[in-house]
Amino acid sequence: PSLTQDELKTLVGQAALQYVVPGEIVGVGTGSTVNKFIDALATIKDQIKGAVSSSVASTERLKALGIPVFDANEVASLAVYIDGADEIDGNGHMVKGGGAALTREKIVAALATRFVCIADESKLVQALGQFPLPVEVIPMAANHIARRFAAMGGQAQLRMRDGQPLVTDNGQHILDVRGLSITDPLAFESDINQWPGVVTVGVFAHQKASVCLLGTAQGVKTLT
Ligand code: A5P
Repeated sequence: PSLTQDELKTLVGQAALQYVVPGEIVGVGTGSTVNKFIDALATIKDQIKGAVSSSVASTERLKALGIPVFDANEVASLAVYIDGADEIDGNGHMVKGGGAALTREKIVAALATRFVCIADESKLVQALGQFPLPVEVIPMAANHIARRFAAMGGQAQLRMRDGQPLVTDNGQHILDVRGLSITDPLAFESDINQWPGVVTVGVFAHQKASVCLLGTAQGVKTLT
């Protein structure tokens, strides 16, 4: 019998433990795959100092399992950051932000020497852009930014929750942009970052994955 997507997530969540450095603080991402990693991390919590978290949701899960959570300002660097992705290409470039945590994810990733991406094989793509691109924006700039995406062929939609614009952990809004072709992720990320009102674009090319642990029917594949 083949493994379910949930079982693949469990597998890669457990496999990521081998990248955790004993005695140190580990960077922790956000999402259903990372939740499996956090559960696995709890089994070795006595061997680590703690975690820096990328979202309120991950912080709550870490604390509930007895793992100390440090503020990002308390650490100068991290050996490793472990997070999922919505898409990852063969170069380690990713689209992230499906869980609306992209800004803090990019910040914690920037603190880390090594980004270990954990994902089931459905996330591996030839080219980024099929998954609607999350972009965190300052609310007053949302329509202006949506028009700029339209000018490059994208359709931006304000992410809603319970009939209201979703508010991120940072008090901002999210645009999900369909129809983009992201042929040069590094240049794309740099360009969009220059637009006034953009907080974070969900392309992770400057903070790309150094390693990807991909859950497949044949087991965990390590892509470098
Ligand atoms: C959170 O904002 C995202 O960047 C997640 O890393 C991404 O959505 C992956 O989540 P899953 O592991 O739930 O697919």
